[in-house]
Amino acid sequence: MEKPIQMLVGPTALPHRVMLAMDQNAYSHRSEYYKETQHSVTEGMKKIFGTKNDVLVLTTSGTGAMEATIQNCFSPGDEVIIPINGAFGELFYNVAKGYDLNIIRVDFEYGMEQNVEEVMQLVTDNTKGVFVIHNESSTGVVNNIEKYGEALKNTNALLVVDSVSGAGGINIEMDNWNIDIIFTASQKALMAPPGLSFVALNDKAWDAVEWIKNPRYLFNFSKDRDYVHRDLTVHTPATHTLLAIQEGLNMIFEEGLDNVLARHIENMHAVRDGVRKLGLDLLVNDDSCASPTLTTISAPGNASYYVNELAKRNIIVGGGKSPLNKDTFRIGTMGYVSKNDVIAVLTALAEIVNQ
Ligand SMILES: Cc1ncc(COP(=O)(O)O)c(C=O)c1O
Repeated sequence: MEKPIQMLVGPTALPHRVMLAMDQNAYSHRSEYYKETQHSVTEGMKKIFGTKNDVLVLTTSGTGAMEATIQNCFSPGDEVIIPINGAFGELFYNVAKGYDLNIIRVDFEYGMEQNVEEVMQLVTDNTKGVFVIHNESSTGVVNNIEKYGEALKNTNALLVVDSVSGAGGINIEMDNWNIDIIFTASQKALMAPPGLSFVALNDKAWDAVEWIKNPRYLFNFSKDRDYVHRDLTVHTPATHTLLAIQEGLNMIFEEGLDNVLARHIENMHAVRDGVRKLGLDLLVNDDSCASPTLTTISAPGNASYYVNELAKRNIIVGGGKSPLNKDTFRIGTMGYVSKNDVIAVLTALAEIVNQ
């Protein structure tokens, strides 16, 4: 019997309950049923983000949420700082460049945590934003958002956080940590298919939205917020991804968010311990910034061998992310991943190492 185990970095494995939740006919995005569903999802997302702020519902992927945030909250020429320690920091940089922001980039080694003090030395009264990836999915490093929030709270700058591969799998506290803007997407730790993204802004960020000079149509946060107040979206949303995410959130809250976060940490430690015992190399050596949602293994020139050998054993893991694609592979522990899945991947890796 073939029973694949998926330990991916997104889109991640779907629980059977989530798949069943989508097994419905089309329904109107103006119906009461839709409104109730969206309401429960946005209330759930407030808990995931740790916020009382409104959560906007965008039908787009994580990159779309990133672009919509830049388009709606920053104008051409605005000075922003983008610390980069992986491919998704690079993505943030490229999207910001597309909107003609005046970017100060700060490069850190891939696999290392960003140094908040070093970044803060560059913040002045002119800094309009600091854009940070919470969980760098290309390497498996968690950046210290709480420390950024503390350092930036009395400045003019907005702290903009991409938690696409963090939210729902790694603790994040928008209100307590002074995060001004946060976004995530449906297909990672939230256990739903791609299609939806969620963005929350605090009052400081909403003030910035008032002054924006960019043209906008599809994603207009002021209009999106008016509609969210009525549990609607402006245009046709991804109705079935919404059903999926509602069920994903139900599962998270039934398990208990704290327990879910603890499970991610436990699974991360189990993967890291096992990989070390097998004599394989971790890309991120420092346990204190290692990601609970994914672990990257260094296998210079040999990464696809491991991915293929695991696939032969019905275990599907993520390949490396460019520019580390030939030299690393990634074991996802985000979302619907149990301790037994971790045991299975480590057993298979042991077999591959010893063959
Ligand atoms: C941290 C991070 N940011 C942004 C993105 C881009 O999201 P998407 O592929 O949904 O556009 C990803 C995707 O993996 C990601 O991991």
